Amino acid sequence: MTRFGIMQLALPARGSGAERSGTYVPDRIWRGFHSDGRKHGLQVLFFRVEDVDFARGRVHAWTSSSPDGRSGWRRGWHPLPHVLYENYPIGPKGKSRRAVGMKRAFARLGIPVFNPSFFNKAELQRLLSASEVRRFLPAGKAARSVSDVTGLLRRHRSVYLKPVNGTQGRGILELKRRSHGRVKVKSGKRADRVGRKEFIRIMSRLLRRERYLVQEGLSLRKKGRHKIDFRVIVHRGADGRWHSAGIRPKLGGSGSIVTNIHAGGSKTTWTRLSAWARRSGRPLPSARRLEEAALVAGRVLTRFRPTLSHLGIDVALDRRNRIFLLDFNPVPGRGLLTPSMMKRVTYLTTGFAKYLASRGASARNR
Ligand SMILES: Nc1ncnc2c1ncn2[C@@H]1O[C@H](COP(=O)(O)OP(=O)(O)O)[C@@H](O)[C@H]1O
Ligand SMILES: [Mg+2]
Repeated sequence: MTRFGIMQLALPARGSGAERSGTYVPDRIWRGFHSDGRKHGLQVLFFRVEDVDFARGRVHAWTSSSPDGRSGWRRGWHPLPHVLYENYPIGPKGKSRRAVGMKRAFARLGIPVFNPSFFNKAELQRLLSASEVRRFLPAGKAARSVSDVTGLLRRHRSVYLKPVNGTQGRGILELKRRSHGRVKVKSGKRADRVGRKEFIRIMSRLLRRERYLVQEGLSLRKKGRHKIDFRVIVHRGADGRWHSAGIRPKLGGSGSIVTNIHAGGSKTTWTRLSAWARRSGRPLPSARRLEEAALVAGRVLTRFRPTLSHLGIDVALDRRNRIFLLDFNPVPGRGLLTPSMMKRVTYLTTGFAKYLASRGASARNR
C-alpha cells in the first residue's frame, strides 16, 4: 500500500498517555484524512519531526485500522512514506525550523513533498505579471526606494504598501494622493495627512526597516463601510489538476483598509452576500468567474513549483465588478473553510498525495 505521511503536531507525541491508553481517537479533521486516504488506496501515517529515523528508513507514526478512523488508532514503526505533506502550524516566527529542515531532508531522498518553499509578495507580483495572470493583477512592484512609491502614486490616486512576507493584514498601509503634494496615510483605521517632506521621511524610514510590495490601490466593492473580498481555496487533486474547493466572502471591519479576520473583519457566505448584492441592484459576477481567475493563478504557479498543492487566494471586485487577485497564501487559515469546504480539501489532498506518489521519486521537489 502507498504510504502518505502527514507531519503535524496535532496528534500526541510518542510516549504520551494517549498512546499508552490505547483508546485515543483524533479530531474529525484527522479522521477525515485517514478515511479519504483509504478511499484513494493510501495508508496515512501521522507523525512529528522527532519520529523520523532516516538511519533505519522508518517513522514512528499513528495509523488507524478502521475504515472511518473512529477506532483502531495505534502508534508504531513504519517504513518511510512515499509522499510527504508537512502540516506544522505557523508560529509567530514562521514555520518551525526543524519542520522545514525535515521537509528538505525528505526531498533530498527523492520523496515527493507537498508545497516546497513559496514566493514572497514582491516575487509573486513579478512572476505573475509576466504571465496570463497579469490581467487580474493590480499594477505593482517591489518597493526598493521611495521613488518606487512616489512613482506609482503619481500614476494612481491610491497605492497599497504591503510587507513582502506579511500575513493577516499586518503592516499594510494605504496611501492616497491629496492636493498640494499632501498624502493621506492610512493603516488599519488610523489616518494621517502629511506634507510631502514628512511623507518622504516616513517612507524612507519604513523601507529601511522592512521590504514592501507597492501596489495600485483598488476601489473595492463595499457593503456600507465594510470592504468586501473573497477567499477562494484552490487545490490540486488525484488528476494533478487544479479545482476550486469553495469561496468565502470576507467583510472588513468598519472603515478598515483590509478585510482580514485577524484585523477585525468577518466572514459571510456566498449565498448571503450575493442576495444582498442583487437586492442592492448590483449583482455579483458568478462565483465560477472568481474561481476561474484563482485557478489560472494555480496553474501558472505550478510551472515554478511542480508539487504545489493548494492556495488560498484573495479575490476582489472593484466598483466596476472587475476581478482582481490580491494575495496568494500557501498556508491558508482553516478558519475561513466551511465544513463542506474542509471535506473537499481533505479529499483533494489525499487524491493529490496519490498523484504525487504515483509519479514517484523524481527531481520534482524544489
Ligand atoms: N491593491 C489593493 N487595493 C485595495 N485593497 C487591497 C489591495 N491589496 C490588498 N488590499 C486589501 O488588504 C487586504 C490584505 O492584503 P493582502 O495582500 O491579502 O495581505 P495579507 O497577506 O496581509 O492578507 C486584502 O484582503 C484587501 O482587502
Ligand atoms: Mg490576504
